Amino acid sequence: MVHTTYPVHIQSVAHSRLSETDFSDIPFGKKFSDHMLVADFQDGKWGDIYIQPYAPVPMSLAFSGLHYGQSIFEGMKAYRTGEGNAVLFRPMDNFRRLNRSAQRLCMPEIPEALFMDGLKALIRLEKDWIPTSPGAALYIRPVYFATDEFLGVRASDTYRFAVLLCPVGPYYTEPVNILVMKKYVRAFEGGTGSAKAAGNYAASMLATREANQAGFHNVLWMDGKTRTLVEESGAMNVFFVIGDTVVTPRLRGTILEGVTRDSVLQLCRENGYKVEEGDVSVDELEKAFHNGELKDAFGTGTAATIAPIAKIQHEDLAMTLPPVQERKISNWLLQELNGIRTGEKADRFGWIVPVE
Ligand SMILES: Cc1ncc(COP(=O)(O)O)c(C=O)c1O
Repeated sequence: MVHTTYPVHIQSVAHSRLSETDFSDIPFGKKFSDHMLVADFQDGKWGDIYIQPYAPVPMSLAFSGLHYGQSIFEGMKAYRTGEGNAVLFRPMDNFRRLNRSAQRLCMPEIPEALFMDGLKALIRLEKDWIPTSPGAALYIRPVYFATDEFLGVRASDTYRFAVLLCPVGPYYTEPVNILVMKKYVRAFEGGTGSAKAAGNYAASMLATREANQAGFHNVLWMDGKTRTLVEESGAMNVFFVIGDTVVTPRLRGTILEGVTRDSVLQLCRENGYKVEEGDVSVDELEKAFHNGELKDAFGTGTAATIAPIAKIQHEDLAMTLPPVQERKISNWLLQELNGIRTGEKADRFGWIVPVE
């Protein structure tokens, strides 16, 4: 047992699946590491941390999280530096966002020691699951849901927090085509758009399916009120380079506050680029496109890091962006972020947290 504020009980697997895992074939979110972390909240307090073999767990079908969606999650990554050390990228930002989501969904806060000490103990144990090939990492999925066996609609009294790990390769292998979505919205003022609530993703799936059926990788979400202002692209924040200015929608409670979004903003400002967080309308994008000023467009997120956008479709207009190799800013951002994560570039923002 490891002694921290929350005791960590470790039950190791009898046989590791590591040697049977083909690291050249790690599609996103399908292969899980040997161990997972579990902690429960009951009687008004958090219990010990259990690190145990990854396996299905028995659960009641009356769990309130299943019925009423009191369920939130996070997405973050661990990397291996050139010296072979396991590091986390901005884990405190994910921790704080998890608790903001918890607050919005009326769930108890997770203590920092439980989250950070548990996570570090898990990653230390699973260090060899961190892939080292370019663009690959160990994806970390904290998930937190209600476990009351009660069908009344009210905030649960009991909860489970778990962390799963997946070695993953690059998320997108090609630039994405996206469709301006006006039929459905992802979020609206006063709703849960800025929380990482499971229900937000359920609500997005029909729009994504219809976009896929129309030949697009994903949707460009509009604001819920006017359906004219850009919010996000799929499950990513979105950036445009218009002329020489890097532009992204401002956070207005309907947009998830992405850790990658913030990292991109900090890197651009450090490098002296003009940056604008504001209202970005589709009209403005169309004007910039017609004037030849729409130089770059990309999604940002933990899974993909930087996902270049090849084409934005708005009704009958297809806005085709310049070839990816000609895009100065997004290519530079990807190199900077990857360099900082693997220790090749100086961590001047204090983003890297060693695990050992
Ligand atoms: C809806 C949504 N927007 C944006 C992001 C990007 O956030 P981050 O950069 O923290 O991964 C994510 C992924 O976490 C997301 O699910």
